[in-house]
Amino acid sequence: MATPAEPILEVRDLVKHFPLTQGILFKRQIGAIKAVDGVSFDLHRGETLGVVGESGCGKSTLAKLLMALERPTSGSVRINGRDITTARGGDLKRMRRNIQMVMQDPYTSLNPRMTVGDIVGEPFEIHSEVAPKGDRRRRVQELLEVVGLNPDHINRYPHQFSGGQRQRIGIARGLALRPEIIICDEPVSALDVSIQAQVMNLLESLQKEFELAYIFIAHDLSVVRHISHRVAVMYLGKIVEIGRDAEIYDGPTHPYTQALLSAVPVPDPEGREQRQRIILQGDPPSPANPPSGCRFRTRCWKAQEICAEQEPALEIRPGSPHSSACHFAEVRDVVGSG
Ligand SMILES: Nc1ncnc2c1ncn2[C@@H]1O[C@H](COP(=O)(O)OP(=O)(O)O)[C@@H](O)[C@H]1O
Ligand code: SF4
Ligand SMILES: [Mg+2]
Repeated sequence: MATPAEPILEVRDLVKHFPLTQGILFKRQIGAIKAVDGVSFDLHRGETLGVVGESGCGKSTLAKLLMALERPTSGSVRINGRDITTARGGDLKRMRRNIQMVMQDPYTSLNPRMTVGDIVGEPFEIHSEVAPKGDRRRRVQELLEVVGLNPDHINRYPHQFSGGQRQRIGIARGLALRPEIIICDEPVSALDVSIQAQVMNLLESLQKEFELAYIFIAHDLSVVRHISHRVAVMYLGKIVEIGRDAEIYDGPTHPYTQALLSAVPVPDPEGREQRQRIILQGDPPSPANPPSGCRFRTRCWKAQEICAEQEPALEIRPGSPHSSACHFAEVRDVVGSG
């Protein structure tokens, strides 16, 4: 077991390239989709790392790699010091108990023909050592109670619940094996705004109660703001900026983060007045053919020659007190709060 000071999750140089093939009968590989392309970070017990970036930047692939649902092209994912990417058989099964996922869409991720009791108790079928058969009903009812659902509704079906309640069912299932890490892949994106806050509050209180570590994925910086201790911003398979929550929101140093933040609504009218909206031109380039040097350069208003020639490393720089992958990183107060 890791001591509290050691990271519970250590991700190093993680790469996932999906082969890009042509032809139906005789498939030949004509390239690769670089979905995740050299990602490294640590996560500590009880900590939330927000992971933010546009659709297609590799967030869900990263999540699947962390849970060993996909095998990486290269790199490592250590959980309590042990690499899950090379684990097999019983070892892999044991490690998976400790890292669970809450999916994006509670409408499609729950089997409509299973009762809530069967859905939440399903992990016990695979890991029967956690809850003996005779004890499962009670355990499932406890889990329903923990996530704020009526334990008497154990025999109901998903369609009898609202969207927010369905996501609570998904969270209960994620908690069943008492994992130390939960990956939340856009868990509130499919929910009404009014329900989002309730689910976020539930996740936050569960984190305190069970000392959970979260990877919280979203495509919008405003969603992860209150729940994250640290935030990582992804662009085309890479982390371009990572730091403590306040550092990223009050002093972003990468132009991409600055653009994303400038689009986030600001609650106080003063901030809104001072704010300059940065409009990003175009869509991200294809991950099959990322630009040379800095991948953001085709959309960056600060790009210089060096940006096409040299890939900027993700590191602390003279202009950036936290890690930023930009040759010209400098703090910019985008929301006008300081
Ligand atoms: N199984 C797969 N085979 C081929 N390409 C994939 C596969 N899964 C994801 N991709 C591609 O990898 C890139 C990243 O996808 P994804 O991780 O789903 O991004 P995000 O979750 O940030 O929207 C996309 O270009 C996507 O089309
Ligand atoms: S390295 Fe160059 S292109 Fe990339 S974000 Fe910085 S200034 Fe823009
Ligand atoms: Mg996704």
